[in-house]
Amino acid sequence: MSGYFISFEGSDGSGKTSVLKKIIEFLDQKGQQAKYLLTREPGGNKISEEIRQVILDVKNTQMSAKTEALLYAAARSQHLEENILPALKENKLVLCDRFVDSSIVYQGRARGLGMDVVAQLNEFATDKLSPELTIYFDVDPRVGLARIVAGRTNEVNRLDQEDLSFYDDVRAAYQELAQKYPDRIVTINANQELEQVVADVFKVLAKRVPAFFEA
Ligand code: TYD
Repeated sequence: MSGYFISFEGSDGSGKTSVLKKIIEFLDQKGQQAKYLLTREPGGNKISEEIRQVILDVKNTQMSAKTEALLYAAARSQHLEENILPALKENKLVLCDRFVDSSIVYQGRARGLGMDVVAQLNEFATDKLSPELTIYFDVDPRVGLARIVAGRTNEVNRLDQEDLSFYDDVRAAYQELAQKYPDRIVTINANQELEQVVADVFKVLAKRVPAFFEA
């Protein structure tokens, strides 16, 4: 397999989406439009976007944690087959807003299914394909939620309505994963001003993927 696969992780309000926009601006300015795929989970294609609607529908608050985990894994499997693998085969840089770590953290830890069980479920869904690099935006949930409330341009979904202890669990689980996979997961301090967060991310990218990000 060629190409290069990067996932972006972090809890709501971490600035992840804003930084991704800056990365795209940079690549486009360098004339690299044809050489990357920007995509997101759950989503990326028609089937996965439809699954996304079911998962995030505010009417579906009674959805069980297992159903949720299976739907995320189903959307991910389709996303891999239809979008990510073909792009990697074409030597593209794949930039994916959330991937397996989100399920391990949100469904495994925060919803209580168990991190290992959810990791195993996702090994089946992905045939163990893992990003080469994961940028994790580490933010204090209080800072993150304040940003969401201030902005409100983001999609408001039922997961935004969880309480702070949910987000504390999310953060602790991400930090645990970052310790477990120090070569793959790079932690960015996302409590800083956005400008500094952007600068820190670009520093990591220039080092790890110089072909695309050296100035
Ligand atoms: P998204 O709309 O991408 O929000 P954000 O801009 O914060 O990334 O994701 C919606 C929610 O889906 C988010 O709260 C995290 C959750 N999620 C899971 O719980 N499990 C998963 O496997 C994925 C991919 C997302």
